[in-house]
Amino acid sequence: RRPILIDTDTASDDAVALIMALRSSRVEVKAITTVAGNVRVEQATRNALFTVELCGAEVPVFSGAAKPLEGELQTADWFHGQDGLGDHGYAPSVHATASGDAVDAIVAAVQSTPGIEIITLGPLTNLALALERCPTIAHSISRCVVMGGAPCCEGNVTPAAEFNIWVDPEAARAVFASGAPIEMIGWQLARFDAVLNEREIQEVLAFETPLAEFAIRANSTAATAYLAQTGETGISLPDPVAMAVLLDPKLKLEVSPHYVAIECKSDLTRGMTVVDRLGVAADSRNSVVWSDVTQRDQKVEICWKLDVPGWK
Ligand code: BDR
Ligand code: CA
Repeated sequence: RRPILIDTDTASDDAVALIMALRSSRVEVKAITTVAGNVRVEQATRNALFTVELCGAEVPVFSGAAKPLEGELQTADWFHGQDGLGDHGYAPSVHATASGDAVDAIVAAVQSTPGIEIITLGPLTNLALALERCPTIAHSISRCVVMGGAPCCEGNVTPAAEFNIWVDPEAARAVFASGAPIEMIGWQLARFDAVLNEREIQEVLAFETPLAEFAIRANSTAATAYLAQTGETGISLPDPVAMAVLLDPKLKLEVSPHYVAIECKSDLTRGMTVVDRLGVAADSRNSVVWSDVTQRDQKVEICWKLDVPGWK
């Protein structure tokens, strides 16, 4: 089984992604690290511990960054519920948080686990701090699947930016510049026909297991908020889409490598993932802004199309 580490701001769709990994025979989850994002980090940690327990798994959960590298935390409890899991009053897990800090846990896991893959399901704060603490780990991560970004320039929190990148663009910039082999799973992949529709929701509930019930119920406020935001019914599951791609890379139907810059300053476009789709950044006449990116950064593999039936 392939070793993986999951970094997550555990709320409703993160929890489904955790279930997928913890119940998969393809991967072994070495550690889960939590980060502030959808909810405060204490709540994200509680939710991760609860999900691990529900899966009957024994995986250490390390609590991580409580706020972005710069500025104040902006949560999305309006979308995921005050507790991040749809406010159904789930009891706290009996399991305790692992001792030690998430950033150290990431560094240690990469250093001690050849071939480890990392998947980030929240803001990139923990990973940026780990790469700052030990920059060489960038080259020991065998895959780095990032759920984040809006490569088609359709954001979900501002017109330009997707939530995970928008919450901590400075961290995203550091991670994208680190040389780690990033596979970007943008928010657009989880829309339209990739959304779990009402029939599919009923199919999941028909399993009549605690996990199936939890997976749907925890996403109840998210479904309502998604309908209000996009006019689309059903449950949108960006983190499970990213996890599906981690588990089975064949689900990526169209990918291409590009330089990607993260906008950190502009009020209008802060958190935007600016993709050099046509390769114009390599032209020295365009180098004023892009020379920094093309000199230091590795290209990011962007997935443009998902095998939707395969993912479902
Ligand atoms: C991302 O932001 C969060 O709301 C979800 O958990 C997902 O990681 C989608 O933009
Ligand atoms: Ca998330």
